Amino acid sequence: MRLKDRVALVTGGASGIGRAIAARFVAEGAIVVIADVTTVVREGGQPTHEWLGIEHVQTDVSVEAECEAAVARVVARHGRLDVLVNDAAITLGKPLLDCSREEWDRVLAVNLTGCFLMSRAAVRAMLAQAPRGEVRGRIVNISSQHGMVASPGDIAYGTSKAGVAYLTRQVAVDYAAQGIVCNAVAPGKILTGKTGRAIDPAMIAYSEARTPWPRLGRPEDVAGAALFLASDDAMYVTGENLMVDGGWMAY
Ligand SMILES: NC(=O)c1ccc[n+]([C@@H]2O[C@H](COP(=O)([O-])OP(=O)(O)OC[C@H]3O[C@@H](n4cnc5c(N)ncnc54)[C@H](O)[C@@H]3O)[C@@H](O)[C@H]2O)c1
Repeated sequence: MRLKDRVALVTGGASGIGRAIAARFVAEGAIVVIADVTTVVREGGQPTHEWLGIEHVQTDVSVEAECEAAVARVVARHGRLDVLVNDAAITLGKPLLDCSREEWDRVLAVNLTGCFLMSRAAVRAMLAQAPRGEVRGRIVNISSQHGMVASPGDIAYGTSKAGVAYLTRQVAVDYAAQGIVCNAVAPGKILTGKTGRAIDPAMIAYSEARTPWPRLGRPEDVAGAALFLASDDAMYVTGENLMVDGGWMAY
């Protein structure tokens, strides 16, 4: 019960990695609220909030008012917000010359601006609450190895994830004195319910070739790292971007 009675808000928690994080946090004693645009589970199965018996707040993280409302609802209902997980993201799969202005704007709006808007709302709420020990609140961003190395043929996604890694360090530095901890988990190739390009045999073969560990990742692998960064086991750790990539970036 490493998150006993901690209040956590998980964006993108309906599916995939976010769903695994929500499940792990609940198993560790947290009160979890999901903020997602949909309750549909991409990989199939019962909606996450029903499965876990928790609340789902309909939220598009690219919309400022919806981010503010999601955080306000958590605080009103549970009295505080201990952990924000910024997991919601979309991919596009287009290189520079094929990427329209509208497509670029949409990917950046969800993946990077969404992280900014949710973090801003959360930090504002966290600064208004009493600390638990040294820590007033924690943010765990889900970044990617893409953004550190190029995301082949996906300029908007890779750029957005580079921004998330930077935003992580910036928030960590600016609010450390006030007890805000901000870290990221950078997954390598994780098999979730994504369709299309993500499961294209050529992309899977590319990912396998890049991954020294003899399998691709599972959502639970990322959830374990997110749990560490959300818990008091991660003390004096801030501004970090923790790879969970089977060695991809070491290769
Ligand atoms: N799967 C991978 O291989 C991999 C690798 C590196 C990083 N990541 C990152 O991990 C995170 C989760 O990826 P996943 O594979 O589980 O994806 P996924 O598509 O299975 O889940 C993403 C979730 O985000 C939600 N979402 C999308 N747009 C939203 C919006 N505007 N507002 C709120 N919610 C929104 C979706 O509804 C979905 O529930 C993402 O940040 C992704 O970039 C994934």
